[in-house]
Amino acid sequence: MTKLLCPVCKNELNKTERTFSCEKGHCFDMAKEGYVNLLTGSKAGALIGDNRDMARSRKNFLDKGYFKALADKLCEITIALKPETVLDICCGEGYYTQALSENCDTAVLGFDISKEMVRLAAKRKCNAEFFVANMADVPLADSSIDCAFHLFAPFCEKEFARIITHGGYLISVCPGADHLWGLKQALYETPYKNEEISPELDGFTLEKTVRAGDIITLESREDIDALFKMTPYYYHTSDRDKQKLDKLNTLKTQTDFYIRIYRRG
Ligand SMILES: C[S@@+](CC[C@H](N)C(=O)[O-])C[C@H]1O[C@@H](n2cnc3c(N)ncnc32)[C@H](O)[C@@H]1O
Ligand SMILES: [Zn+2]
Repeated sequence: MTKLLCPVCKNELNKTERTFSCEKGHCFDMAKEGYVNLLTGSKAGALIGDNRDMARSRKNFLDKGYFKALADKLCEITIALKPETVLDICCGEGYYTQALSENCDTAVLGFDISKEMVRLAAKRKCNAEFFVANMADVPLADSSIDCAFHLFAPFCEKEFARIITHGGYLISVCPGADHLWGLKQALYETPYKNEEISPELDGFTLEKTVRAGDIITLESREDIDALFKMTPYYYHTSDRDKQKLDKLNTLKTQTDFYIRIYRRG
C-alpha cells in the first residue's frame, strides 16, 4: 500500500471513510466527486494549472479516441512491467489514468495541480484514486512507487527520483518528430519537424524508447479547434495563420509519440 504523506507536516496520512488525516490532526476531506485536495494554501489549486474550458476541451477531444494508439501502448508496456502501483504524475483530466486502471492489474493513482482537471478525472468513476497535488512536492513517502508516468508535462526529476523505488520505472512521453504534421502543414507555409530531444535524468538510466502513433482524421471544426488548443502552436501562431484552420471541417494528420522508459538506479 502506497504511503500518502500529509502536505503540512509530512507525517503519514490515514484514511477513515471519506477523510485522510495525520497524527497531528491535519485533515483532508474527499470531495463529492471522490478526489482529495492535498494542496495547502488558501486557494488550494482553484486558480493554478489548466482552467475549466481547457480541461473540458481536452477531455472531450481525448474521449473521442484520437490518441488511443498511445493509451494502448502505455497499457501494453505496463502489463509487461507488472508494477504494484502506477502513479500518473500530472494526470490531467485522467484519460490515460483511466485506461491504465481499466486495462492493467495494478493500483493506479493520479495527481495533478489543477483542481478542475482532477475533478473531471474523478468523475470518470474508474478504479484510480485522484489527488490535487504538486509534482514539485509530491505527498508520497520516499521510494513508494515502482512505476510513474509523466505525459506532456513539466519535469521535476529530483522529486521523481525520491518517490520512485530503486529499480522502478519512470515512463515519460513527449511528441515525436512527426507529431501533428498534418496540422502544422495546414497552419504554416514552412512547417518544421519536432526536435528529437532525449533528456538525461539524474538518478535514471534510459532503457528504451518506444514510438507510438497513428493517422487520425478529425471530423469537425470543434475537434480541430480542441486539438489546436492542446498544442503550444495555439500560443505561438499569428492570427493570419490561425485563420487558415477556420476554412477546414476535417483534418487528416499523423500522431507520433516518443515513450521513454527510464529505470531508477
Ligand atoms: C498538457 S497537460 C497533460 C495532462 C495529461 N498528462 C495528458 O497527457 O492528458 C499538463 C498537465 O500538467 C499539470 N501540471 C502542471 N504543473 C504541475 C505541477 N507542478 N504539479 C502537478 N501537475 C502539474 C497541468 O495542470 C496539466 O493538467
Ligand atoms: Zn499533518
